[in-house]
Amino acid sequence: MIIRKSKREIEAMKKAGDLLVLCHKEIAKMIKPGITTMEIDTFVESFLKKHGATPEQKGYNDYPYATCASVNDEICHGFPRNEKLNDGDIVTIDLVVNLNGALADSAWTYAVGNVDDEGKRLMEVTKTSLYKGIEQAQVGNRIGDIGHAIQTYAEAEGFSVVRDFTGHGIGPTIHEAPQIPHFGLPNKGPRLREGMVITIEPMINEGKWESKMDANNWTARTIDKSRSAQYEHTLAITKEGPIILTDQDND
Ligand code: MF3
Ligand code: CO
Repeated sequence: MIIRKSKREIEAMKKAGDLLVLCHKEIAKMIKPGITTMEIDTFVESFLKKHGATPEQKGYNDYPYATCASVNDEICHGFPRNEKLNDGDIVTIDLVVNLNGALADSAWTYAVGNVDDEGKRLMEVTKTSLYKGIEQAQVGNRIGDIGHAIQTYAEAEGFSVVRDFTGHGIGPTIHEAPQIPHFGLPNKGPRLREGMVITIEPMINEGKWESKMDANNWTARTIDKSRSAQYEHTLAITKEGPIILTDQDND
C-alpha cells in the first residue's frame, strides 16, 4: 500500500531534509585525499546529534553505521573504514536524517582531489539522470516514466543502470512502497499521486550493470571493477510538481 503524506508531514520531512543538506555541505568541505570515511561517519553522527537529530540508517536492519560510504567500484551500502581516501577516488556518502520522527534520505557522490575526465563524466551523467527522473515525478505519470527517463539518458551516454537497488517510498520508516526502479518502460507501474513522498537514487556504472555482494552481506560492487556513482533526493509529489526535500541549491 502506498501511504500518502499530509502537508504537515511533508513540512516535517522538509526540515529533516534541510538539516541533511547542511550535513552534506559540511561533508563536501571535508572530502580530500587522506581523510577516512570513518572520520566522515563520526562527524555525521555528532553533527546530527548537535542539531537534535539522529542517523536513521544506524541500526536499521542492523546496519552498523550512520552513513554508507561507497568508494569507486562499490555501488552502495559501503561500510565506513579507517582507510584513507586517495586522490582520484570517487565516494558516495548516503545518509538518512531523523528529525523529530520525520525522515529525509539523500546520497551524493564526491570527487576526492583530481578525478579523471571519465570519472567526472560519470558523476555528471549520474546527477543529470537523477534530475531527468525527477522531471517525470508528476501527478498522473507512472513510476515507469521515471526509470525510463533515467535509463534512456544514462545508456545513451554509454553507461549502465544498476537494477538490483531501487528508489522507494519513505515515511516513518526508510523503505515504504512503492519501489522506484531506475530503468523500465514508460506508462507502466503505479500512478504517482499527490502526497506521495519517494526517493529517486540512480546508481550508474561505467561498465556492466550487474552487482555482486561483499562478504559483509551489505556492500554491493560492480562485477567488472568499473566505478559507480549515485545521487539521491527525497521528493514530495504535488499538484504543482515535485518538491525536492533535500535540495542543495535552493535551501
Ligand atoms: N539510504 C539508503 C537508501 O537510499 C538506505 C540504506 S539502508 C541502510 O535506500 F541500512 F543501509 F542504511
Ligand atoms: Co539513501
